[in-house]
Amino acid sequence: MDAALRETLKQMPKAELHMHIEGSLEPELIFALAERNQVKLNYASVEELRRAYAFTDLQSFLDIYYAGASVLLKEQDFYDMTWAYLQHAREDNVKHAEIFFDPQTHTDRGVPFGTAINGIHRALKDARAEWGMSSAIIMCFLRHLSEEAALETLEQSMPYRDKIIGVGLDSSERGHPPEKFARVFARCKELGLRLVAHAGEEGPPEYIRTALDLLKVERIDHGVRCLEDPALTQRLARDKVPLTVCPLSNIKLRVFDKVGDHNLVKLLDAGLTVTVNSDDPAYFGGYVNENFVQMFDALPLDKNHAYRLARNSFAASFLDAQAKQKFLDEVDAFFEQ
Ligand code: ADE
Ligand code: ZN
Repeated sequence: MDAALRETLKQMPKAELHMHIEGSLEPELIFALAERNQVKLNYASVEELRRAYAFTDLQSFLDIYYAGASVLLKEQDFYDMTWAYLQHAREDNVKHAEIFFDPQTHTDRGVPFGTAINGIHRALKDARAEWGMSSAIIMCFLRHLSEEAALETLEQSMPYRDKIIGVGLDSSERGHPPEKFARVFARCKELGLRLVAHAGEEGPPEYIRTALDLLKVERIDHGVRCLEDPALTQRLARDKVPLTVCPLSNIKLRVFDKVGDHNLVKLLDAGLTVTVNSDDPAYFGGYVNENFVQMFDALPLDKNHAYRLARNSFAASFLDAQAKQKFLDEVDAFFEQ
C-alpha cells in the first residue's frame, strides 16, 4: 500500500461500533491493577500472559479474557481501563465510540453494576469534555448464561438507564442461539434500548437470521458467515443491516487462517453495510487503525473503499440524525481534500 493511502486510513474520521472495553485491558494494566487490588493471577509476568494469547477458537480466548477482567474491582479501575482505550481511539481519529461492556462478568464476582458503569461513564464524560469525543455505552448479555440471568441484569441496569444506549449479546456463540434471549430482547425493545447481537462469527448464518427475526436487532456484530447463505446476504444488503466486522479478531480466533483470506472485500462487493472495528484490541494485535492498515495491505482495497467504510461507520451508529450528518459531512470534507 502506498504511504498516502496509509495516511488516509489513519487520519480519516471514523466511528468504532464494536469494541468490548474489557478487551482493551493491556497486559501491563492487568498486572498493575492486580497489584493495586491484591488479585492473584495465574501468570508470573506480562510476557508470560502475552505468550498465552495464542488462541485456537473463540472459547480459548474467552477463558483468558474473563481471567484478565478479574482484576477490575473499583470504580477507578474501570475508569483507568476506559481512559486508556479512549487515548488509543483518539490517536486513531475515532470521533465516536459505541462501547460494549459485560456487566455479568463483574456482578458475578460481587462487583456492583454501578461500580462498573460509573467508572466507564466518567471516563467517557471526561473524553467528551476534554476532546469533544462522542460516545455511548452498550451493555451485553453473556449468552453462555441463562435468560433469567440476563433479565436480572436488565433489572440491575434500570437505575443507570440514562447511561445506556442499547444492549448486545456476546460470549460463546455456538450452542447458544439468539432465540434463547427472545424475551429479554423484547423487554429491552419496549424500554427503548437499541438492539445488537453477535451472530455469524463462529455460529452458522441461521443465527444471523434469528437475531434479526426473533431478537429484532438493528446491527449484526461480526456476521462474516452470512456469505454462506446467498438469500440472507441479499436480505442484509437490501435492508442495509450494518455488519460490525472485526478483521484481526477473525484471524486471531481462526475464523480465517490469515489476513489475506478474510472475506471483507466479498462482503463489500455484496453491497453490505460493512464497518471495521477492533473487538478486543489488547488481545488481537491492534486498535482500529491497525485493523484498517493490515486489511488494506493484504487485500485489493483502495481509497474508495476507505471512504465507504468511514461513511458506513457513522451511518451505522446510534447517533441522532443531526450528529450523524455532521460526522458524514466531516468524512466528505476529508475525502474531498
Ligand atoms: N466477548 C468479547 N469479544 C467477543 C467476541 N469476539 N465474540 C463473542 N464474545 C466476545
Ligand atoms: Zn465482539
